Amino acid sequence: MTALTLSTSSAATLRADAVVIGVAKGPKGPVVAPGAEAVDQAFDGKLAAVLETLGAGGDEGEATKLPAPAGVKAPVVLAVGLGEVPAKGEVYAEEALRRAAGVAARTLTGAKKAAFALPVADAGAAAAIGEGALLGAYTFTAFRGEKNNGKSGKGEPLGEAAILGAKPRDKAFKAAAERAVAVAEEMNRARDLINTPSNALYPASFATLAQQAGKEHGLKVEVLDDKALLKGGYGGLMGVGQGSANGPRLVRMAYTHPKAEKTLALVGKGITYDSGGISLKPAGHNETMKCDMSGAAAVFAAVVAAARLGLKVNVTGWLALAENMPSGTATRPGDVLKMYSGKTVEVLNTDAEGRLVLADAITRASEENPDAIVDVATLTGAMVMALGNRTFAVMANDDAFRTTLHEIAEEVGEQSWPMPLPADLRKGMDSPVADIANMGERMGGGLVAGLFLQEFVGEGITWAHLDIAGPAFHESAPYGYTPKGGTGSGVRTLVRLAELTAAGDLG
Ligand code: BES
Ligand code: MN
Ligand code: ZN
Repeated sequence: MTALTLSTSSAATLRADAVVIGVAKGPKGPVVAPGAEAVDQAFDGKLAAVLETLGAGGDEGEATKLPAPAGVKAPVVLAVGLGEVPAKGEVYAEEALRRAAGVAARTLTGAKKAAFALPVADAGAAAAIGEGALLGAYTFTAFRGEKNNGKSGKGEPLGEAAILGAKPRDKAFKAAAERAVAVAEEMNRARDLINTPSNALYPASFATLAQQAGKEHGLKVEVLDDKALLKGGYGGLMGVGQGSANGPRLVRMAYTHPKAEKTLALVGKGITYDSGGISLKPAGHNETMKCDMSGAAAVFAAVVAAARLGLKVNVTGWLALAENMPSGTATRPGDVLKMYSGKTVEVLNTDAEGRLVLADAITRASEENPDAIVDVATLTGAMVMALGNRTFAVMANDDAFRTTLHEIAEEVGEQSWPMPLPADLRKGMDSPVADIANMGERMGGGLVAGLFLQEFVGEGITWAHLDIAGPAFHESAPYGYTPKGGTGSGVRTLVRLAELTAAGDLG
């Protein structure tokens, strides 16, 4: 794992394999960003001109390596693009710094130590650079042979990221750095869980990992296995999980603070593999469906992060774990399930399984009467169609809460957009045999799924639903601090929500 350190050393004198500087897009060509003054001096003040000669313009995503001149201890200078120069009186946006640091960490795979001489206006900026570096350095090699796993060669992730211009003895900087490490490491934990193939991560093994993390971080972890779920009447979880040799689980992982005044319930969709069930997905739609537990991974990570940060709030995570498989014991299209809430559901399409496991978990979470419930799920392809691959949807039974989630996502660097729950779409789920069907109109399918979930939220409880089907799993080339594969989508938003709830800044 990459280490994060804060340093007051000069970019010129620190011993490192590379020194990272920022280059921004100015009105008349590239501009060297603050933090790199000492490096620019070593270039006789001509660094911007050198970069322009090399074709660097300061665009986001750019990485330009150049040999360091005499007077800079590190052998390599790496210039990363920061986008437009901020307006007068403004500082660089944290997300621009996070992404640039991510690009740098990715580019410096194999290096032992890099000095980040990027613009650090305050503790928040230092933390963003740290987060970006730790996230960008992420690799997933657990399932590679020794010759190919980076451990024996140049592929090892960056060993240490030293953030210059940060004050290591300053309380605010220290706290911000500690937070950055906890958040980034937990996001990387979520990525690991998502990237682990379904033959290695199934409901029982996922539950075991939760128990282990619980021991390590002082959480109370309880697991209901398939026997207990059957006995308890969890028709949604059983209905989805009964077709698989790997039975379903419901995990409750609770972080409590003795002085907490509020309790937040987080519910994660944890389909460890979504084949579609009897309504089988065709080839081309199932290759990445190990990612269908990304919501549960985000909840897992957020609960552990809350514990690591010692937040003054209770956070209860619910992992709704099942493998959706077709078999002689699988639920058939047309079957009626009796849910944990007592409601009956006609399963018209076994591929609309997420809402079934979530419904049971939301009902169960509601029994504890939390101050708010947020569920996170790779729920619908419709939401990917609507918002694309980088933006998640926020729906809620409370407009103010939906706005809050959208705004805090923005603040922590996650793209999201508020979506409605139009009541007219409810009648599409009317069933001739049950209380509700698990499918409705095709148009607006992401909203239909949200309306389905809403029916299982306890009376009077504030609830929001994050559909992360788009951003949870990144299939194209890496960018910024986002690698191929699991991204850790949702984690930062959930952690920020827990922090604001702890601070009493929410309702
Ligand atoms: N896990 C999928 C949704 C999904 C799609 C996640 C693409 C990530 C990327 C979900 O279980 C599903 O299959 N949804 C169906 C619902 C439909 C049958 C009502 C869908 O979106 O097509
Ligand atoms: Mn499905
Ligand atoms: Zn699914």
